[in-house]
Order: sequence, then structure tokens, then C-alpha cells
Amino acid sequence: MPTHTEKLGWIGAGRMGYAMVERLAKAGCDIAVWNRTKAKADPLAEHGAKVVTHLDELAGKDILFCMVSTYDDVKEVIGKALVKGRPGMVVECSSISLEGSAELRKTLERERVQYLAAPVSGNAKVIKAGKLTFVVSGPKEAYERARRYLDMMGTGSSYVGAGELSRVAKICHNVMLGVVVQSLCEITILAQKAGMPRHAFLDFLNKSVMGSMFTRYKTPALVNLDFHVTFTPKLLRKDLDLGLDAGREHEVPMPLTSITRDLLQQMIGHGMTEEDFSTLLLMQARASGIELEPENVALSDGL
Ligand SMILES: NC(=O)c1ccc[n+]([C@@H]2O[C@H](COP(=O)([O-])OP(=O)(O)OC[C@H]3O[C@@H](n4cnc5c(N)ncnc54)[C@H](OP(=O)(O)O)[C@@H]3O)[C@@H](O)[C@H]2O)c1
Repeated sequence: MPTHTEKLGWIGAGRMGYAMVERLAKAGCDIAVWNRTKAKADPLAEHGAKVVTHLDELAGKDILFCMVSTYDDVKEVIGKALVKGRPGMVVECSSISLEGSAELRKTLERERVQYLAAPVSGNAKVIKAGKLTFVVSGPKEAYERARRYLDMMGTGSSYVGAGELSRVAKICHNVMLGVVVQSLCEITILAQKAGMPRHAFLDFLNKSVMGSMFTRYKTPALVNLDFHVTFTPKLLRKDLDLGLDAGREHEVPMPLTSITRDLLQQMIGHGMTEEDFSTLLLMQARASGIELEPENVALSDGL
């Protein structure tokens, strides 16, 4: 039996959406979920979510969440979901452009539906570990209402202001992801070439004040050369380009972003596109004249 009274609707049960709905359902929310490929959402019924076949079954929900892929997909599904009855509020969590988000806001305002832009930091594994975070913008009172559900999905949310500001914050976040991983690759190769095993150096770094959840999380990849994709080089390049565009618009120099963007471009030019963005390590090794071997050390990802 649901223990929360508001009726929630959810669109999109991909890697991210599935794990997010699972947390809300397990927390006792009254939640109905639709996914284009219904079979992917079906197991959510075991946790108490209602899996629906048609988008219009989400009509009239108090809060409608959306977690699909691009803005075109968001536009399509939200358009269809509104046909049979408006929700009270839409909380859009996919990583979409500022322009797309602003267009969606206009459409929803015309329909008198409140809109929160709420992109996330974390991947499916991070959600399972309860560590997802949101950055949110839109009307403050809408945020106050949606906040408890955002909290149930992870470690909380940050409200950054009106309009599409959260999309800018998400771009800044991903710029940092690129710059930090490049720095981590440079120093790891330097340490190795000077004579240390990568795992020993990263063990020191991770225990120091410079270590972070991110450096710990990426350590197994850098030590054991497991470049199973979490985020592709091309997607990261897209986000650095968005960061550089924003820098130009606001007249903010971004030299580190610029260099990292070009390093990613080199990597893509070498055909390194299908594995994780942390394959920047391999480029750094090549540029330093060394060959890497997996160290095969059992490590926790720190989550
Ligand atoms: N994965 C990450 O680490 C991560 C981290 C932060 C943010 N994000 C962002 O979160 C969003 C979702 O990522 P994800 O990793 O969950 O992607 P995913 O596993 O590829 O799932 C995409 C979801 O969108 C649905 N979808 C796509 N196009 C659609 C359309 N035209 N109509 C209806 N449904 C459509 C898919 O339905 P089907 O199941 O039918 O294909 C699926 O439910 C993206 O914007 C991504 O950039 C991802």
C-alpha cells in the first residue's frame, strides 16, 4: 500500500529511470510508470509501481517525472502525456539543452503546468547506492513540493534559481568531470613512469584530502584498465562544447576546458570512441611513451 498520498507519474525506465522509480516505489510512493519498451519497466511492479501500457494513463497526476534521452524525445512524450489531462507539475530530469528546456517551459506555462528542470549527477550504480543528486530550477514553491520525492531518490537536491539555471549548473558539473579526469590521468601516468604502481599512487591520493568519491570511483578503471562505458568521449566532448559556448556567451575564459576539449578531440580522432571517457589514460600513456598493463588488483569503487 502506498504510504505517500500524492499521485506520481513517471516516463522512461531506461538505466537511470528504472533505478529512480525503484527507489520511489520502495519508499512507498503511489507511482505509475510508462516506458516505450514496456518489458523493461515490468519488473518495477514487484516493488509496488503500477506499470502502464499507454502514456495517456499518466493523465492528471500530481507530479509527472520524465527521464528519457534527448530534448526531441522529451517533447514527444510530454506532448502525448498532456493530451488526456494535464499533470499538476512536470519534473524533467533528462540531460537536455538549455534551449529545449526553455521551449518546454513555455509550452507547459501555456498549459498552466508548473515545470522544474531537474538534471542529475550520478549513474545507475550511484542511484542504487543511494547517492544520486539533483540540481533544480523553476518556481520555488514547486521545488518545495517536489523536494521530498527528490530526496527519496538519493542524497538530496540543490535549488539554484529560476528558469533554466539548473541546466547551466549541470553543464558546469560535466566540465569539471572532464577537467578532473584529464588531470587524474596525467598524474597517474607521471607516477607510474617515475616507478610506482598505479594502485599504490591512487591509494595514497584517495586517502588524502585531494581524494574524492569520484577519484575513488574511477580508480578500478585506471588500475585494472576496465573501460566499460559509463559515459562516452563524444558525450563528454558535447558537454565541454556546451561549457565553452556558455563561457563565450558570458565572457568567461575557460582555458582548462578548452585544452581538455582538444585532448578529447584527439582521442576521438584516433577512433577511441566506444569505451569510457577515462580511456584518456591510454592517450596520456601513449603520449608519454609507455605501454600500460592491467594491474589486476581487487578494488572497491568506493560507492
Ligand atoms: N547513464 C548515465 O550515467 C547518466 C547520468 C546522468 C544523466 N544521464 C541522462 O539521463 C537520461 C537517461 O539516460 P539513461 O542512461 O537512462 O538512458 P537509456 O538507458 O538509454 O534510457 C533512455 C530512456 O529513454 C526512453 N526513450 C528514448 N527515446 C524515446 C522516445 N522517443 N520515446 C519514448 N521513450 C524514449 C527509452 O525507452 P526504451 O527503453 O523504449 O528505449 C529509455 O527509457 C539522458 O538524458 C542521459 O543523458 C545519464
